[in-house]
Amino acid sequence: MLEKIKETSDYLKKLMPSAPATGIILGTGLGNLVTQLTDTTEISYETIPNFPVSTVEGHSGKLIFGKLGGVDVLAMQGRFHYYEGYTMQQVTFPVRVMYELGIRTLLVSNASGGMNPDFEIGDLMIITDHINLFPEHPLRGKNYKELGTRFPDMSEPYSKELIAKAKAIAAKNNIKVVEGVYVGTTGPTFETPAEYRYFHIIGGDAVGMSTVPEVIVANHAGIRVFGMSIITDLGVPGKIVEVTHEEVQEIGNKAQPLMTKIMTELVAGN
Ligand code: HPA
Repeated sequence: MLEKIKETSDYLKKLMPSAPATGIILGTGLGNLVTQLTDTTEISYETIPNFPVSTVEGHSGKLIFGKLGGVDVLAMQGRFHYYEGYTMQQVTFPVRVMYELGIRTLLVSNASGGMNPDFEIGDLMIITDHINLFPEHPLRGKNYKELGTRFPDMSEPYSKELIAKAKAIAAKNNIKVVEGVYVGTTGPTFETPAEYRYFHIIGGDAVGMSTVPEVIVANHAGIRVFGMSIITDLGVPGKIVEVTHEEVQEIGNKAQPLMTKIMTELVAGN
């Protein structure tokens, strides 16, 4: 594992035009932010040693070095999901590589189903915390102390400072944001009505099939995290309708520019 991380980061170090301190993982169909990047160097996942290859529709799968609002960033367009069959180590491998490349702040985005009755479709939710319901933990197995401690603290999985900054940016720009707890599950099924109800009862405001593994590994590595969910459908009693991947992408598309705006200013203000 340590050798693989080194091999991959050595490969990328030769190609990277700058040394970004901020990484961004863009979720399902959420590539809008990429259109705001300048001075880009794109590296397709297929060409990166040890990188898994993304298979889901709507994920183009590339690493992009560039400037966002003038600040150097490293963006991942398309992520690896557990439901695709990857191991947790594969799902989180890019975060390990990011750390090795110097990334110390990570912004993550995703599409999710809202369970909080106050939420509306198209809302942007700042992730304040998460509940890990994946059946396998990304840190299970041998702990490499070079990568982090055996029993990582998770008392502030999402940086309070970045959450406060993001809320201020949203208020200044008149962008509606909600806040909440993200429940991470395997998928690939969307939830049954009883499952949405259950996830809400245990403390979740939104549910999705990603993010939690990467955020756990980022915390293990000492990377501070900021996360946002686009609420693409509602798992709220009385409001549950059929959900399709296409609809999730369509709603995601509409809300994206607002998320891009918040993330751009967040990066600039860092
Ligand atoms: N459940 C799980 N994942 C999702 C959902 C959902 O309702 N919407 C978008 N991703």
